[in-house]
Amino acid sequence: MDLIITRAKTLQGKLRSPSDKSLTHRAYMFGAIAEGSSRILNPLVSQDCENTLECLAKMGLRHESVSADEILLHPAKEWNEPKDELYCGNSGTTIRLMSGLVASRPITAILSGDASLSKRPMKRIASPLREMGAEFIGDTPPLTIKGSAHLKGIDYVSPVASAQIKTCTLFAGLRAEGPTTIHEPSLSRDHTERMLKALGMDVTISSEERGSVSRLNAGGTFKGFDFNVPGDISSSAFWLVAASIVLGANLTLQGVGINPTRSGVLDVLTQAGVTYTLDSLRDELNEPVADITVSNPSRLLPFEIKGSLVPRLIDEIPVLAVLASQCNGETNIRDAGEMRIKESDRIELVAKGLRAMGAEVHVLEDGLTIIGPSELKGAVIETEGDHRIAMAFTIAGLIAEGETVIKDAQNIATSYPDFESHLALVRVG
Ligand code: S3P
Repeated sequence: MDLIITRAKTLQGKLRSPSDKSLTHRAYMFGAIAEGSSRILNPLVSQDCENTLECLAKMGLRHESVSADEILLHPAKEWNEPKDELYCGNSGTTIRLMSGLVASRPITAILSGDASLSKRPMKRIASPLREMGAEFIGDTPPLTIKGSAHLKGIDYVSPVASAQIKTCTLFAGLRAEGPTTIHEPSLSRDHTERMLKALGMDVTISSEERGSVSRLNAGGTFKGFDFNVPGDISSSAFWLVAASIVLGANLTLQGVGINPTRSGVLDVLTQAGVTYTLDSLRDELNEPVADITVSNPSRLLPFEIKGSLVPRLIDEIPVLAVLASQCNGETNIRDAGEMRIKESDRIELVAKGLRAMGAEVHVLEDGLTIIGPSELKGAVIETEGDHRIAMAFTIAGLIAEGETVIKDAQNIATSYPDFESHLALVRVG
């Protein structure tokens, strides 16, 4: 499916932020291992999260939709061995987190995915899981995992700051013998640790010379819980950038999760000279939430993304690159090699798309240099089915002269099914 985008006169209004994808995956997985039923309000209903729910259902989780915004989860006492493959679709979070849950149970499962997921690296989770005592076959999906009820806790040094590696290892560690410790070069999103803590588990995060360390004392169980899923800052980022670059724009995103390990986009807005306000601050199972209002400033400044800022905005870099194309000067994005192994090689696709629209972009192995400001022209944008590339270039299309054609935009539904209707709501002219 292709999307055709034309320049908008301006953008105005309020949107309820789409629910957080990372937190919906975790809510379902925590619900599947709790003792007793859980109630999840406002889960993200998208292909990625439905895949997580279906995989868990194949191992015994019962789920019941009370309404469009409420789902009840009834976990199985003992998980069954799945009769069919666990199909994870496009979702790296589903396959990597699910692997930790499967590995720590006496079951065997095959985990598979679509063409994009089947190319993504899984050695990064095979290493800790094998060290703990699980059998793991396959460097890319499909994977076969032979789990065990007798894993050993480990002290693991992860070469990358990745919440998927960390959560996979912590999930396996929940049922292992002894503590599990995971070191990462800088702190990746800490939703798992926050949720474990909120449910009474013994988990700590501390900093150390080489980065951050999360430690879990195994043993113990937690009861079913109620969780109202906050809005997704990664999905909201498309509108935060849109409001920054579209002349005269002013947008409010309601109910956005602003966990500091996810909110690097707000630091970049500040660097770029964009002012925003945070209102109606609240808290949901240890996750801070706020309404964010952004308006288009008279001048945009270039910015720098590197080091520990990178994991705090890793999924937002495509749309921040669009912002950079409108900033007055040289924006540098470094230490972001992980972008190459997301749903697509996002460094290449961002550079290709922005150049096609007339921006000046230099590609590095681990990032991009973008020299702005450029007057963007409509172009045909190849997305390779990557949802975030499709949404980032939709935002670019709102300020471009002429027509922008976003190829293969169908996977927007993996994370933000209401994206197009939200655009129609705030678009003026
Ligand atoms: C996610 C972690 C990030 C992010 C992904 C979701 C998660 O991946 O890119 O979209 O829910 O844990 P990495 O932690 O592997 O960088």
